[in-house]
Amino acid sequence: MSEFSHTARPESMSAFWMPFTNNRDFKANPRLLVSAEGMHYKDVDGNSILDGTAGLWCVPCGHAQPKIVGAIRDMVGQLDFAPTFQMGHPAAFELAEKLMDYTGHKFGHVFYTNSGSEAVDTALKIALAYHKARGEGGRTRLIGRERGYHGVGFGGISVGGIAGNRKTFGPMLPGVDHLPHTHNLEKNAYTRGEPEYGTHLADELERIVALHDASTIAAVIVEPVAGSTGVLIPPKGYLKRLRELCTKHGILLIFDEVITGFGRMTTPFAADYYEVEPDLMTTAKGLTNGMVPMGAVFSKKHIHDAFMDAPPGIELFHGYTYSGHPLACAASLATLQVFEEQDILGHAKSMQAYWEDAVHSLKGLPHVIDLRSIGLIAGIELDPIAGKPGTRAFGAFKQAFADGVLIRTTGDIIALSPPLVLEKQHIDELFGKLATVLKHLD
Ligand SMILES: Cc1ncc(COP(=O)(O)O)c(C=O)c1O
Repeated sequence: MSEFSHTARPESMSAFWMPFTNNRDFKANPRLLVSAEGMHYKDVDGNSILDGTAGLWCVPCGHAQPKIVGAIRDMVGQLDFAPTFQMGHPAAFELAEKLMDYTGHKFGHVFYTNSGSEAVDTALKIALAYHKARGEGGRTRLIGRERGYHGVGFGGISVGGIAGNRKTFGPMLPGVDHLPHTHNLEKNAYTRGEPEYGTHLADELERIVALHDASTIAAVIVEPVAGSTGVLIPPKGYLKRLRELCTKHGILLIFDEVITGFGRMTTPFAADYYEVEPDLMTTAKGLTNGMVPMGAVFSKKHIHDAFMDAPPGIELFHGYTYSGHPLACAASLATLQVFEEQDILGHAKSMQAYWEDAVHSLKGLPHVIDLRSIGLIAGIELDPIAGKPGTRAFGAFKQAFADGVLIRTTGDIIALSPPLVLEKQHIDELFGKLATVLKHLD
């Protein structure tokens, strides 16, 4: 065992202030992962845990995918770090070209970040700067959506629609408005794919335009499928309508594809699934198979080109020390290769119907009030315990982990998003164990 092997229980867990975690509860009864391969994690006691969430929507090609591991190893020994401010390294440029191929050349350029949150803030800044570069600097308003999650930067939490952020972090960015969310259990419960009801909610953008005037609005940002607030699937035609309205009013449309990008919908991006072309698209997670932190903003050519008419000098005053980090570029190049060689999208597509049937087989189990599915995503909504929101689903999460499956919960919704390399036996095990958990849940 190497001196850098970390498979034993840590002596103390006090110093690490854990993100998005009930620290006191976790540290009293920790869940410690020490290794991962393919569809499984191993915990500190040697138990195998089936990964029903691709970590955090991160590993489409499965854990420890050998080609990607090898690419990262090779790169770290060759070029550990290289700046991309007034400098460059070949892999960053090679990756950008390959990413354009992967989008089918619907986008012309890519800006690297290190996370989804940074991708979101970058996209918002590009939108503002783009209008300014074209002489429409009055377009400063940003429109998000209720129940949207766009990471944790001040831009992202401002356009996001999560009440907890407002309560905790104060007034946010000025000049932000929100579309209504589209979740409606009365009309759309137990939908497979896109729900029928709610397309008209896109027209709320007209109300916002009438209120503020289009000449003040820079961009609309939405997750095509909202993940972190509980798998909210857009109604039929909703995203197309939003696209039409943005085009009509000269407003940029940003799709936040941090979770829907890289195959989650069985297509390269949700934009392909819905046949809607955003102007900017934010990504992260699956971009490197989750193995090295990286995010990226994809830009239509005309947006990038608007910056290139400026007087000579730095065109966009923005970037991160680790934008285009060599290890992230190596991981992403290898990820794209694995997507192609192993036909990850084709495999995901071949699992989709079986996945959907498995999701909807939970109908009628105790506490289940909705089941929804699209691509290789599932949302299982539970009836909350009165006065204790989130407690019931979190109980399911803890029990599922003890039973050897990793699920994720948000409020009283269980969100599933497995690695795309899963097979039917994994679907059987995941839903079999989950059904048992639900049957015995308080
Ligand atoms: C849609 C969306 N946008 C942004 C983010 C933030 O990404 P990160 O946690 O990498 O900053 C997430 C994370 O889950 C996300 O789901």
